Amino acid sequence: MDVRMIDFQSHDDERGCLVVAETTKEIPFDIKRLYYIYDADSKTTRGFHSHKRLQQVYIGIHGSMKVTLFDGVEKREVILDNPKQGLYIGHDVWRTISDFSPGAVLLVAASELYSEDDYIRNYDEFLASLDER
Ligand code: TYD
Repeated sequence: MDVRMIDFQSHDDERGCLVVAETTKEIPFDIKRLYYIYDADSKTTRGFHSHKRLQQVYIGIHGSMKVTLFDGVEKREVILDNPKQGLYIGHDVWRTISDFSPGAVLLVAASELYSEDDYIRNYDEFLASLDER
């Protein structure tokens, strides 16, 4: 599965923690877009899509959330609860995000500008797209 955890640079001292993620070092693409999700209902599940080209890094900046991933072969569940790490997700991976803790913030770095054409939001279409790979 084209998914992996990335350790960021962390500069911690008595003043606090400063975490850095740089393109070409920790982030394996040029970041073209950032977005973040907060105030998510703990009972809600988001996502339910894959991307044709987009690569992303999910960062649980605050609190925790569960990311469930499926690439057509393997299923994986990852709890994001460490702001010093990011979860790289390649394209063609179906994902859902759930179990947001109160106050949780999920920051996402993306390799492309927003394009609805890049989304596959229908699960049967996702499964069919795997055969075309
Ligand atoms: P949506 O894809 O439903 O969120 P999630 O993947 O968490 O389930 O996105 C919510 C709305 O925000 C939808 O109308 C698309 C819009 N959106 C943008 O306009 N730009 C973006 O960069 C993103 C990620 C979403």
